[in-house]
Amino acid sequence: MTTPAKGGRVHNDGLPTVLVINGPNLNLLGTREPEIYGHTTLEDINHQLIALGTELGIRVESFQSNSEGALVDRIQQARGIIDLIIINPAAYTHTSIAIRDALIAIEAPVIEVHLSNVYKRESFRHHSTIADVVEARLMGFGAEGYLLALRAAARMIKVQREKREER
Ligand code: DQA
Repeated sequence: MTTPAKGGRVHNDGLPTVLVINGPNLNLLGTREPEIYGHTTLEDINHQLIALGTELGIRVESFQSNSEGALVDRIQQARGIIDLIIINPAAYTHTSIAIRDALIAIEAPVIEVHLSNVYKRESFRHHSTIADVVEARLMGFGAEGYLLALRAAARMIKVQREKREER
């Protein structure tokens, strides 16, 4: 039997689960610098992800925190439970070794998402501590990027499961 870490939930229905993690200040989406990040709120994005997940046969869980430690804790709780993580670490993208280490530790595929094209912005946004440990990166599509990432996640999980069944 799998023992869930604190806060992690084990589901026994075979439905793939994708965890969507958002870092600091993304709770302010919709009102925060809308010329860069758009007018869609995080709540809207999460609702759209759940609706698309239903269509694709994927359970979507969402988590946002402004605190690096809380983000690391939530990533650790996903170990052995979550099929794939979609993460926008926001400003921690550019600084956090702790989030990088946590993503490596849980051994699940990761898709990195950014609303803006960070390469069109200040040079300190060009470095990502996780770019070389994720499966794929998506940026510049605004809120739509999360939905594109979920579609990609569905395909990646399908291939992953088919490979596992072949063994
Ligand atoms: C961001 C880009 C980061 O540089 C920034 O700190 C954010 C959001 C994006 O989604 O475009 O908070 O990750």
